[in-house]
Amino acid sequence: MAKPGTQARRKRSAPELPFGGAWSYEPSLESTDHVVLAERYGLFLDGAFVRPSTGRYFATSDPATGRQLALVAEAGPKDVAAAVVAAQRAFRSWRRLPGTERARYLFRIARLLLERAREFAVLETLDNGKPIAETRDIDVPLAAQHFFYHAGWADKLDLVFPGAVPEPLGVVGQIIPWNFPLLMAAWKIAPALAAGNTVVLKPAETSPLTALRLCEVLQQAGLPPGVVNVVTGAGATGAALVRAEGLAKVAFTGSTEVGKEIQRQVAGRGIDLTLELGGKAAHLVFEDAALDQAVEGVVRGIFMNQGHVCCAGSRLLVQESVHDAFVAKLQRRMARIRVGNPLDKNTDMGAIHSAQQLARIEALCAAGRAEGATCFQPPCRLPERGFWWPPTLFTGVAQSHRIAREEIFGPVLTVSTFRTPDEAIEKANNTSYGLSAGVWTDKGARILWVAERLQAGVVWNNTYNRFDPAAPFGGYKESGFGREGGRQGLRAYLRLPDAPTPA
Ligand code: NAI
Ligand code: MG
Repeated sequence: MAKPGTQARRKRSAPELPFGGAWSYEPSLESTDHVVLAERYGLFLDGAFVRPSTGRYFATSDPATGRQLALVAEAGPKDVAAAVVAAQRAFRSWRRLPGTERARYLFRIARLLLERAREFAVLETLDNGKPIAETRDIDVPLAAQHFFYHAGWADKLDLVFPGAVPEPLGVVGQIIPWNFPLLMAAWKIAPALAAGNTVVLKPAETSPLTALRLCEVLQQAGLPPGVVNVVTGAGATGAALVRAEGLAKVAFTGSTEVGKEIQRQVAGRGIDLTLELGGKAAHLVFEDAALDQAVEGVVRGIFMNQGHVCCAGSRLLVQESVHDAFVAKLQRRMARIRVGNPLDKNTDMGAIHSAQQLARIEALCAAGRAEGATCFQPPCRLPERGFWWPPTLFTGVAQSHRIAREEIFGPVLTVSTFRTPDEAIEKANNTSYGLSAGVWTDKGARILWVAERLQAGVVWNNTYNRFDPAAPFGGYKESGFGREGGRQGLRAYLRLPDAPTPA
């Protein structure tokens, strides 16, 4: 680990980003020239864009300006049923295709995504509100990586699970949220296809454009019709997909509330289910940690994507002896966060995704103040149009406070203290969630001691929000079940009939 002295020098150049990218400091504005938008988007059924049977369209808009971007088809139960039938038909031949052939399609999709990376990054930023530096360096390249990674497994399934003859499940219904629209589509589609399944995907109603553009890439890659179908719409369309006849599995990422409802809907139907739900991750900073490095990690952990991240490090637990020094450093760092135009390369934090999400953040911050926590927000001028919230820090937070218990899903960090490692573990685990956690300490033995005791699917140490398609991701408790990524994620899209029964 780097000594504090080397940190100070390194900070002057671009700070390291996950996935090997770097923040760009070139002072130039991005243009939207790379993206041509249609006025209306249809549903992607059986390899073609079609009109919805409902005849209805809904608007999707740019959260940074409120400007309407396009109209998108609203799929009704009839459309969803047609999508499942198309996927069932496609499954018959797709499952029998040699793994090497399925791999070729996935490699092609990955390469096309990278060729069109700029277009996807700009479109994602427009439809979602997150900064272009993130869509360019994280969302788009990582989405491509998921296709590359799973392409590599497609012809090696028998090697992944020795002693078993893995079989695909069938048609998978996949429902994704708005916070990483393209990346979540890739997380869902790539392993499903590699394993030989076919897909009906429902993107979130407030950010459907990159999933629809991905359908263009699928066409370009020559993917056989029906292997991937995309039905757009809101919760009712998602519910229709969950209820549809002919599904072998449902995979959902979103709120815990909807996850529980889906669990009730699929109960007793013999359908596989994986749920990736909310989180309230603890971020533990011990007194021996490299504090400047930890500040960078904590900032990335909560302010990346405006805090609209299920694994966001939203509960900071700092060892009492360094609390004051750490909070002072954090506040100075927060004052340098640039909030504004998401299409500007230099922007660190973009727009809050929707009026609904902004209202939730506002309400929880008001509750934090009312319950007696101290609120810090650096002075920052927010744009007049669109949805915005400044980086926010609450100190003096008790474990009973709503802001310490409920998922805010915004740029809001709570700070509490601990004295001993045991107390740190107890506080970190004192939550109904268990998706992720972060540990900052210089002692290797302590990292292992802490990681073993944390109830969290992912534990990062001396880093945060670092993703890799080879690493399984998923939760404990109300954060859901099942894993995505790695061999464990692939396993969730396969049946292993003759696998040895675990003892
Ligand atoms: P949501 O769970 O309502 O939406 C996620 C997806 O589920 C969307 O595609 C939506 O259309 C669909 N959906 C909604 N109702 C459905 C139903 N009854 N059956 C099937 N699909 C349905 O999440 P929402 O309302 O956008 O956000 C609310 C809160 O949930 C956020 O403030 C945040 O705390 C949490 N959340 C967590 C996410 C995560 O990555 N774990 C992602 C999005 C939200
Ligand atoms: Mg909702």
